Amino acid sequence: MTAHAPGATPRRYLMCEPTHYTVAYEINPWMDRTRATDTALAVQQWRTLRDTYLELGHTVETIEPIPGLPDMVYAANGATVVDGIVYSARFRYPERQPEGPAYQKWFADRGFVTHTAAAVNEGEGDMLVAGHLVLAGTGFRTERTAHAEAQELFGTPVISLELVDPRYYHLDTALAVLSSDPRDPQIAYYPPAFSPGSRAVLEQLFPDAVLATDDDAAALGLNAVSDGQHVIVAPRATHLAGALRERGYTPVPVDTSELLKGGGGAKCCTLEIRE
Ligand code: ARG
Repeated sequence: MTAHAPGATPRRYLMCEPTHYTVAYEINPWMDRTRATDTALAVQQWRTLRDTYLELGHTVETIEPIPGLPDMVYAANGATVVDGIVYSARFRYPERQPEGPAYQKWFADRGFVTHTAAAVNEGEGDMLVAGHLVLAGTGFRTERTAHAEAQELFGTPVISLELVDPRYYHLDTALAVLSSDPRDPQIAYYPPAFSPGSRAVLEQLFPDAVLATDDDAAALGLNAVSDGQHVIVAPRATHLAGALRERGYTPVPVDTSELLKGGGGAKCCTLEIRE
Protein backbone atom coordinates (compact mmCIF):
# COMPACT_ATOMS: atom_id res chain seq x y z
CA MET A 1 0.00 0.00 0.00
CA THR A 2 1.20 3.51 -0.77
CA ALA A 3 2.18 5.50 2.26
CA HIS A 4 -0.30 8.08 3.48
CA ALA A 5 -0.06 11.48 5.15
CA PRO A 6 0.46 10.89 8.89
CA GLY A 7 -1.28 14.12 9.98
CA ALA A 8 -0.13 17.56 11.08
CA THR A 9 2.14 18.28 14.02
CA PRO A 10 2.72 21.85 15.24
CA ARG A 11 5.98 23.41 14.06
CA ARG A 12 8.18 26.30 15.09
CA TYR A 13 9.60 28.30 12.21
CA LEU A 14 12.09 31.15 11.89
CA MET A 15 11.55 33.66 9.09
CA CYS A 16 13.06 36.97 7.95
CA GLU A 17 10.92 39.67 6.32
CA PRO A 18 12.29 40.66 2.87
CA THR A 19 12.56 44.36 3.80
CA HIS A 20 15.85 44.70 1.88
CA TYR A 21 15.06 42.16 -0.83
CA THR A 22 16.45 42.69 -4.32
CA VAL A 23 18.62 40.80 -6.82
CA ALA A 24 21.94 42.63 -6.50
CA TYR A 25 24.28 39.78 -7.54
CA GLU A 26 23.96 36.46 -9.36
CA ILE A 27 24.95 33.27 -7.57
CA ASN A 28 22.41 30.88 -9.07
CA PRO A 29 20.83 30.58 -12.54
CA TRP A 30 17.50 32.06 -11.39
CA MET A 31 19.05 35.40 -10.48
CA ASP A 32 19.18 38.11 -13.16
CA ARG A 33 20.33 41.54 -12.01
CA THR A 34 18.79 43.22 -15.06
CA ARG A 35 15.26 42.10 -14.14
CA ALA A 36 13.41 44.47 -11.80
CA THR A 37 12.32 43.22 -8.39
CA ASP A 38 9.33 44.51 -6.46
CA THR A 39 10.23 44.61 -2.78
CA ALA A 40 6.70 45.56 -1.69
CA LEU A 41 5.29 42.54 -3.52
CA ALA A 42 7.95 40.28 -2.00
CA VAL A 43 6.94 41.53 1.46
CA GLN A 44 3.27 40.97 0.69
CA GLN A 45 3.88 37.40 -0.51
CA TRP A 46 6.13 36.70 2.48
CA ARG A 47 3.42 37.95 4.89
CA THR A 48 0.87 35.67 3.23
CA LEU A 49 3.24 32.75 3.76
CA ARG A 50 3.76 33.70 7.42
CA ASP A 51 0.02 34.16 7.98
CA THR A 52 -0.64 30.76 6.39
CA TYR A 53 1.65 29.10 8.93
CA LEU A 54 -0.07 30.97 11.76
CA GLU A 55 -3.52 29.95 10.50
CA LEU A 56 -2.34 26.33 10.43
CA GLY A 57 -1.43 26.66 14.11
CA HIS A 58 2.35 26.89 13.78
CA THR A 59 4.63 29.29 15.64
CA VAL A 60 6.60 31.81 13.61
CA GLU A 61 9.63 33.60 15.04
CA THR A 62 11.34 36.35 13.09
CA ILE A 63 14.90 37.62 12.79
CA GLU A 64 15.58 41.29 12.04
CA PRO A 65 16.55 41.80 8.37
CA ILE A 66 19.95 43.44 7.87
CA PRO A 67 20.44 46.11 5.18
CA GLY A 68 22.84 44.94 2.46
CA LEU A 69 21.88 41.27 2.88
CA PRO A 70 19.08 40.90 0.30
CA ASP A 71 19.12 37.08 0.46
CA MET A 72 18.55 37.02 4.22
CA VAL A 73 14.87 36.33 3.50
CA TYR A 74 15.93 32.76 2.64
CA ALA A 75 16.00 31.80 6.30
CA ALA A 76 16.33 28.08 5.56
CA ASN A 77 19.97 28.74 4.73
CA GLY A 78 20.64 30.31 8.14
CA ALA A 79 21.34 27.12 10.13
CA THR A 80 20.26 23.52 10.71
CA VAL A 81 18.56 22.79 14.03
CA VAL A 82 18.07 19.24 15.30
CA ASP A 83 17.05 18.45 18.90
CA GLY A 84 17.76 22.05 19.85
CA ILE A 85 21.35 21.84 18.61
CA VAL A 86 22.22 24.55 16.12
CA TYR A 87 24.74 23.82 13.38
CA SER A 88 25.63 27.23 11.98
CA ALA A 89 25.71 28.03 8.29
CA ARG A 90 28.93 28.94 6.55
CA PHE A 91 28.06 30.38 3.15
CA ARG A 92 29.96 29.66 -0.05
CA TYR A 93 29.71 33.12 -1.59
CA PRO A 94 31.11 36.26 0.11
CA GLU A 95 27.85 38.16 -0.59
CA ARG A 96 26.00 35.93 1.89
CA GLN A 97 28.73 35.17 4.40
CA PRO A 98 27.60 37.67 7.09
CA GLU A 99 24.26 35.84 7.31
CA GLY A 100 25.84 32.83 9.05
CA PRO A 101 26.92 34.70 12.21
CA ALA A 102 23.70 36.77 12.20
CA TYR A 103 21.52 33.66 12.39
CA GLN A 104 23.87 31.97 14.85
CA LYS A 105 23.62 35.00 17.15
CA TRP A 106 19.81 34.88 16.96
CA PHE A 107 19.92 31.33 18.34
CA ALA A 108 22.69 31.97 20.89
CA ASP A 109 20.77 34.99 22.26
CA ARG A 110 17.83 32.68 22.90
CA GLY A 111 19.84 30.12 24.83
CA PHE A 112 20.41 27.54 22.12
CA VAL A 113 23.65 25.57 22.07
CA THR A 114 25.27 26.62 18.79
CA HIS A 115 28.14 25.03 16.93
CA THR A 116 30.24 27.13 14.56
CA ALA A 117 30.68 25.17 11.34
CA ALA A 118 34.17 24.45 10.07
CA ALA A 119 32.91 23.34 6.64
CA VAL A 120 30.97 25.31 4.05
CA ASN A 121 27.27 24.54 4.41
CA GLU A 122 24.10 26.46 3.64
CA GLY A 123 21.88 25.27 6.45
CA GLU A 124 18.58 23.61 5.69
CA GLY A 125 19.01 24.57 2.05
CA ASP A 126 21.16 21.44 1.89
CA MET A 127 20.23 19.51 5.06
CA LEU A 128 16.75 18.11 5.37
CA VAL A 129 15.62 16.03 8.30
CA ALA A 130 13.60 12.97 7.29
CA GLY A 131 12.78 10.87 10.33
CA HIS A 132 16.00 9.41 11.75
CA LEU A 133 18.02 10.57 8.78
CA VAL A 134 19.47 13.82 7.60
CA LEU A 135 19.45 14.05 3.81
CA ALA A 136 22.32 16.30 2.76
CA GLY A 137 23.03 17.88 -0.61
CA THR A 138 26.39 18.67 -2.15
CA GLY A 139 27.69 19.62 -5.58
CA PHE A 140 27.06 23.35 -5.69
CA ARG A 141 27.10 24.88 -2.22
CA THR A 142 27.54 22.60 0.80
CA GLU A 143 30.79 20.63 1.10
CA ARG A 144 30.77 16.92 1.80
CA THR A 145 32.90 17.53 4.89
CA ALA A 146 29.91 19.43 6.31
CA HIS A 147 27.86 16.25 6.08
CA ALA A 148 30.40 14.48 8.30
CA GLU A 149 30.48 17.46 10.65
CA ALA A 150 26.68 17.43 10.97
CA GLN A 151 26.61 13.67 11.56
CA GLU A 152 29.14 13.98 14.37
CA LEU A 153 27.29 16.93 15.92
CA PHE A 154 23.74 15.55 15.75
CA GLY A 155 24.58 11.85 16.10
CA THR A 156 22.15 11.21 13.25
CA PRO A 157 23.02 9.30 10.07
CA VAL A 158 23.63 11.77 7.26
CA ILE A 159 23.00 10.58 3.71
CA SER A 160 25.08 12.46 1.12
CA LEU A 161 23.28 13.25 -2.13
CA GLU A 162 25.01 14.73 -5.15
CA LEU A 163 23.19 17.49 -7.04
CA VAL A 164 24.04 17.78 -10.74
CA ASP A 165 21.71 20.43 -12.26
CA PRO A 166 22.73 24.06 -11.51
CA ARG A 167 19.05 25.16 -11.43
CA TYR A 168 18.63 22.86 -8.43
CA TYR A 169 21.68 24.05 -6.55
CA HIS A 170 20.32 23.43 -3.04
CA LEU A 171 18.80 20.13 -1.93
CA ASP A 172 15.56 21.89 -0.95
CA THR A 173 15.01 22.91 -4.58
CA ALA A 174 14.99 19.24 -5.68
CA LEU A 175 13.60 17.34 -2.69
CA ALA A 176 10.89 17.99 -0.11
CA VAL A 177 10.30 16.09 3.12
CA LEU A 178 6.58 15.40 3.36
CA SER A 179 6.63 13.45 6.58
CA SER A 180 9.44 13.31 9.10
CA ASP A 181 7.68 10.58 11.10
CA PRO A 182 10.59 8.27 12.08
CA ARG A 183 8.41 5.18 11.50
CA ASP A 184 7.68 6.13 7.91
CA PRO A 185 9.45 9.21 6.55
CA GLN A 186 8.13 10.34 3.17
CA ILE A 187 9.63 12.57 0.53
CA ALA A 188 9.01 14.01 -2.93
CA TYR A 189 11.91 14.64 -5.32
CA TYR A 190 12.98 15.35 -8.87
CA PRO A 191 15.23 12.47 -10.00
CA PRO A 192 17.14 14.30 -12.81
CA ALA A 193 18.56 16.75 -10.26
CA PHE A 194 20.63 13.94 -8.72
CA SER A 195 23.66 11.90 -9.82
CA PRO A 196 22.94 8.26 -10.79
CA GLY A 197 24.36 6.96 -7.51
CA SER A 198 22.30 9.36 -5.44
CA ARG A 199 19.16 8.46 -7.37
CA ALA A 200 19.80 4.81 -6.57
CA VAL A 201 20.19 5.68 -2.89
CA LEU A 202 16.91 7.60 -2.88
CA GLU A 203 15.11 4.74 -4.64
CA GLN A 204 16.41 2.34 -2.05
CA LEU A 205 15.55 4.47 0.98
CA PHE A 206 12.25 5.86 -0.31
CA PRO A 207 10.73 3.41 -2.80
CA ASP A 208 7.38 5.08 -2.22
CA ALA A 209 8.47 8.66 -2.89
CA VAL A 210 6.41 11.13 -4.89
CA LEU A 211 8.30 11.92 -8.10
CA ALA A 212 8.06 15.47 -9.44
CA THR A 213 7.83 16.30 -13.15
CA ASP A 214 10.03 18.76 -15.06
CA ASP A 215 7.31 21.41 -14.74
CA ASP A 216 6.87 20.86 -11.00
CA ALA A 217 10.61 21.25 -10.51
CA ALA A 218 10.86 24.32 -12.78
CA ALA A 219 8.15 26.04 -10.69
CA LEU A 220 10.30 25.23 -7.61
CA GLY A 221 7.41 23.06 -6.49
CA LEU A 222 9.76 20.95 -4.40
CA ASN A 223 10.65 23.98 -2.34
CA ALA A 224 7.65 23.00 -0.26
CA VAL A 225 6.95 22.98 3.49
CA SER A 226 4.99 20.13 5.02
CA ASP A 227 3.65 19.77 8.56
CA GLY A 228 2.75 16.12 7.93
CA GLN A 229 -0.64 17.05 6.47
CA HIS A 230 -0.62 20.49 4.83
CA VAL A 231 1.98 21.10 2.17
CA ILE A 232 2.68 24.71 1.24
CA VAL A 233 3.52 24.49 -2.42
CA ALA A 234 3.99 26.79 -5.43
CA PRO A 235 0.63 27.16 -7.25
CA ARG A 236 2.21 26.31 -10.62
CA ALA A 237 3.31 22.85 -9.44
CA THR A 238 -0.05 21.36 -10.40
CA HIS A 239 1.03 17.77 -11.04
CA LEU A 240 2.82 17.67 -7.70
CA ALA A 241 -0.27 19.04 -5.92
CA GLY A 242 -2.36 16.26 -7.48
CA ALA A 243 0.14 13.59 -6.46
CA LEU A 244 0.14 14.94 -2.90
CA ARG A 245 -3.65 14.86 -2.76
CA GLU A 246 -3.60 11.21 -3.84
CA ARG A 247 -1.43 10.44 -0.81
CA GLY A 248 -3.86 12.16 1.52
CA TYR A 249 -1.89 15.40 1.89
CA THR A 250 -3.57 18.78 1.61
CA PRO A 251 -1.69 21.02 -0.82
CA VAL A 252 -1.88 24.68 0.23
CA PRO A 253 -0.88 26.88 -2.72
CA VAL A 254 1.03 30.02 -1.72
CA ASP A 255 2.47 32.24 -4.43
CA THR A 256 6.06 33.33 -3.78
CA SER A 257 6.79 34.33 -7.41
CA GLU A 258 8.67 37.49 -6.46
CA LEU A 259 11.05 35.52 -4.26
CA LEU A 260 11.60 33.08 -7.13
CA LYS A 261 13.64 35.82 -8.83
CA GLY A 262 16.29 35.19 -6.19
CA GLY A 263 16.01 31.45 -6.70
CA GLY A 264 13.84 30.58 -3.72
CA GLY A 265 10.32 29.59 -2.70
CA ALA A 266 8.37 28.84 0.45
CA LYS A 267 10.86 26.39 1.97
CA CYS A 268 13.80 28.72 1.37
CA CYS A 269 11.99 31.33 3.48
CA THR A 270 11.42 28.90 6.35
CA LEU A 271 13.90 27.52 8.87
CA GLU A 272 12.45 24.84 11.12
CA ILE A 273 13.42 25.02 14.78
CA ARG A 274 13.38 21.44 16.08
CA GLU A 275 13.62 21.13 19.84
N1 ARG B 1 19.71 33.76 -3.80
C1 ARG B 1 19.87 32.73 -2.83
C2 ARG B 1 21.14 31.94 -3.11
O1 ARG B 1 21.41 31.69 -4.25
C3 ARG B 1 18.67 31.84 -2.81
C4 ARG B 1 18.67 30.83 -1.70
C5 ARG B 1 17.49 29.96 -1.72
N2 ARG B 1 17.41 29.19 -0.53
C6 ARG B 1 17.21 27.87 -0.46
N3 ARG B 1 17.03 27.32 0.71
N4 ARG B 1 17.25 27.11 -1.52
O2 ARG B 1 21.85 31.58 -2.22
